[in-house]
Amino acid sequence: MHIQYNISLKEYNTFGIDVMASHFVSVDSVSDLISVIKQKDFPNKLILGGGSNVLLTKNVDALVVHINLKGKTIVSQEDNLVLIKAEAGENWHDFVLWCLDHDYGGLENMSLIPGNVGTAPIQNIGAYGVELKDHFISCEALNVDTLELESFNKTTCNFGYRNSIFKQEAKGKYIITSVVFQLTKNTHYLRTNYGAIQSQLELMKVKEPTIQDISKAVIAIRESKLPNPKEIGNSGSFFKNPVISTEAFKALQQNFPEAPSYRVSEHEVKVPAGWLIEKAGFKGKTFGNYGVHKNQALVLVNYGGAEGKDLLALSKLIQNTIYRIFNISIEAEVNIL
Ligand code: EPU
Repeated sequence: MHIQYNISLKEYNTFGIDVMASHFVSVDSVSDLISVIKQKDFPNKLILGGGSNVLLTKNVDALVVHINLKGKTIVSQEDNLVLIKAEAGENWHDFVLWCLDHDYGGLENMSLIPGNVGTAPIQNIGAYGVELKDHFISCEALNVDTLELESFNKTTCNFGYRNSIFKQEAKGKYIITSVVFQLTKNTHYLRTNYGAIQSQLELMKVKEPTIQDISKAVIAIRESKLPNPKEIGNSGSFFKNPVISTEAFKALQQNFPEAPSYRVSEHEVKVPAGWLIEKAGFKGKTFGNYGVHKNQALVLVNYGGAEGKDLLALSKLIQNTIYRIFNISIEAEVNIL
């Protein structure tokens, strides 16, 4: 473990924004992590996992701590269930593929989500009808004040839509070091209700899908709609889908009867932000070397060499325009630093 100076963070954020970190260290054990956090020489620290949910708008004058803890272990198993512990620095999609190779079911609908295992609980990642919380048992996290490892279960994590305690009251206070998942071994519970999955399986001529088929279908859907961060810098959905009251939705329907929505509760619906952004005319728009993706309006993209502040300005323009046209506020899903 050694601290480096003036390191470009371009390779460490999926937006591919080229900003400098004054200091950088990659840690591959919990004991190294504890000694780094103890370091008094660097009062400001920025914890970086997969860098897939962050927009870097300026150089980072801090010690960037790259979480590189690796490993997967079976905690216990019985009949149809297995508990797997994965360390925080495991790449999320590689972990999903490893589970599928071992025929462990549960995470297949969340194939190809960028990021790492340790950052997945922070925003309770989800896709195609499944959320992390559906297979989450617990996680261990280092309390940065006491330097003790603490365990969080599903209740204490307080998961919500793209939300958890780690984005709320525990924000900045913990570093997740590992996560335990509950998966199935033989009899798998397939979630194919999401329309896009059904049509993709039909296209693939699969009648009785396996968990591996579902993963392949999800990968095909995501590849057709979402840009690969290795080719075009992006951070997945830049915005959250806004949750509005049914009255507000009725008001929206007065002007836009075709507006799509998903019921969240008796009094609330979720409106796809992608639809609002597309309707506002931003889908596929480019502004030099950055813009809005042509196949999914929720995704802002860096075509190469864009600056974080340009993307931030674009996101503000989109938010203001959406508010003006629809009277709906949309919130960024990515962390802006
Ligand atoms: N839509 C448009 N135009 C667009 C995009 C979407 O009109 O450009 C409308 C359509 O009506 C479409 C609806 O939005 O039917 C829903 O679109 P989609 O199924 O692609 O889902 P989403 O709400 O846009 C969410 C997640 C994605 C996740 C997909 C699939 C959020 C913020 N995003 O997107 O997550 O992959 O569902 O489950 O909840 C991510 O978080 O990075 C991410 C990609």
